[in-house]
Amino acid sequence: MSEIGGMNILTLAQTYGTPLAVYDEGALRDKLKSFTEHFRSDSFKTDVVYASKAFNCMAMIQLIEEYGCCLDVVSGGELYTAYKAGYDCSKIFFHGNNKTPAEIKMALDLGVGTIVLDNEMEAAELVRQISGTDKKINAYLRVNPGIEAHTHKYIVTAHVDSKFGISMLDEEDIVNVIRMVSSTDNITFEGIHAHIGSQIFDKKAYSELVKKMFAFASKLKNEYGFDVTGVNLGGGFAAYYTDEDHPIPVDEVCAEIIRTCEEENAKNGNQITRVLIEPGRSIVAEAGYNLYTIGYIKKTPNKLYAFVDGGMSDNIRPALYQAKYDAFIAGKENDEVSGTYTIAGKCCESGDILIQSIALPEVKTGDILVMKTTGAYGYSMASHYNKLPLPAVVFVKDGTAREVIERETYEHLISLEKQEVNP
Ligand code: LLP
Repeated sequence: MSEIGGMNILTLAQTYGTPLAVYDEGALRDKLKSFTEHFRSDSFKTDVVYASKAFNCMAMIQLIEEYGCCLDVVSGGELYTAYKAGYDCSKIFFHGNNKTPAEIKMALDLGVGTIVLDNEMEAAELVRQISGTDKKINAYLRVNPGIEAHTHKYIVTAHVDSKFGISMLDEEDIVNVIRMVSSTDNITFEGIHAHIGSQIFDKKAYSELVKKMFAFASKLKNEYGFDVTGVNLGGGFAAYYTDEDHPIPVDEVCAEIIRTCEEENAKNGNQITRVLIEPGRSIVAEAGYNLYTIGYIKKTPNKLYAFVDGGMSDNIRPALYQAKYDAFIAGKENDEVSGTYTIAGKCCESGDILIQSIALPEVKTGDILVMKTTGAYGYSMASHYNKLPLPAVVFVKDGTAREVIERETYEHLISLEKQEVNP
């Protein structure tokens, strides 16, 4: 491929410089369309909630709004970005295990529609802040169903020590929270939420989750009389990074979830009237490409390094999770392979390797390396390590590019620093 979104990759690199994060806007739109079209049922209302931690910026949030999706934010910063993007705050789900009192206040002031409560103390803080005001909010409670799914396997455990949510085994705590929030008219308790992991390839993990969640919702209703009408199943849908990955197509995973939900709901007298999912990675990952300029090439006894002008500061995933990526050299897509390269970043850290081993045609200084599937948790987890400025981000569609985030300058990097040399 020599183009992204109908635009020549070398032109993109020349126009905007490198390192550069490029999103194929058509691919983003296709994913959003696919999720919203396939996650539907005649038996209950459905919502796709975009988990913006995967990539949160105003342009992305505007796309989310265009496709009628709800939005998951986990901090005041993500919330502020959504607000500034003009997003309808009533469609926001505010997540997080330690929302500060100031963040809760901000959510109430901006009219956030739903808070996903994590623990008892947070519930008490919300009740304290909202009681006696004219504010209103819906609430979900994050529960921990004891299913953990990461990459290729899922395990059902009695894992009770997660920092997120309250274990289904701690029923008393769950009941306390629901009672607490139900005690004020300002809060409408809607249902339960769970998120079981990320980069999940096994759709059985989701059916297992659906069964547990619906059974638990019915228990909360039958044994305690709580009006639980919503189930939020979280995200975790896998993306394709390398040929080791076999993500479940969106239509298939949606069909599986909807089918299981309908079956389980029918068993319990159709108590649930709204089901939600929260994809992040699966919407943005494959639409994203990171462009780097190759700098020096270095041979060591056992390796052939090609250095790039970015690294762990713009993509921490290889260093942090040993995540694997595929890449190619723009303009040399059809050239014969000449060697096995290690793609290393420029940060002062031995672990700053973007790709451990990749077969490429002869790589030369000045070539543009294109890393694929970098759209999720790349820019959003970027850092200023070694005081490297954050890259620019462009959206490309039908042969036209628009810069949605400017490249940082050195001035930006010191803009918050006090200038006085001798205080
Ligand atoms: N909902 C909740 C409550 C979550 O905690 C997450 C992700 C999602 C939805 C979206 O999950 P996704 O569909 O993107 O898998 N930094 C890691 C991923 C961390 C995911 C955290 N929570 C990575 O780069 O792989």
